[in-house]
Amino acid sequence: MRVLVVDHPLVSHKLTVLRDKNTPSPVFRLLTEELVTLLAYEATRDVRVEPVHIETPVTTAVGTGLVKPTPLVVPILRAGLGMLEGMTRLVPTAEVGFLGMARNEETLEAITYAERLPDDLTGRQVFVLDPMLATGGTLREAIKFLFRRGAADVTCICLLAAPEGLEALRQELEGANVTIVLASIDEKLNENAYIVPGLGDAGDRLYGVV
Ligand code: URA
Repeated sequence: MRVLVVDHPLVSHKLTVLRDKNTPSPVFRLLTEELVTLLAYEATRDVRVEPVHIETPVTTAVGTGLVKPTPLVVPILRAGLGMLEGMTRLVPTAEVGFLGMARNEETLEAITYAERLPDDLTGRQVFVLDPMLATGGTLREAIKFLFRRGAADVTCICLLAAPEGLEALRQELEGANVTIVLASIDEKLNENAYIVPGLGDAGDRLYGVV
């Protein structure tokens, strides 16, 4: 497992505004998309490509095409949905599957309540979108699910991670073809498994308390 923290002043600036508790939902949604686009630029560095032959208005040339099937993007509902637009803006030909996961607030275990993914992911490159890597339970279950379906490699784009969650994932996924791309590794988890300093409940900040 590889961890990549994207070090860029715009990433840091946008994240700062997201963290601010006074940032309203519409601005939070927009900034999340913008931030994901910046993270996705780094996260797709190893996207599979092949040479393509084209004609420019002047001559013929060899360029770069995405290998088919194109990457599969999987937002984890609910909060991951707020990251989808930022990702597909950069890779508009990607396919999109959905995984609905929530954590039981008492046991903190991840449960899957919805799934709309291809049955066979053999050889596919998969990009998982989940803003908050807290205990790592949700991502661990999602990643294992995707590998069981045959995914070749999984790249997770998150806004924030807690060191505890990253360590738990590292222990489970040692040697697995997994990359975690982040805007920041924060200080710690608090007693309610919230990331500190964090940005609060990402789903609530995107979509309200429902
Ligand atoms: N999920 C969130 O939305 N925020 C946290 O801080 C932890 C998990």
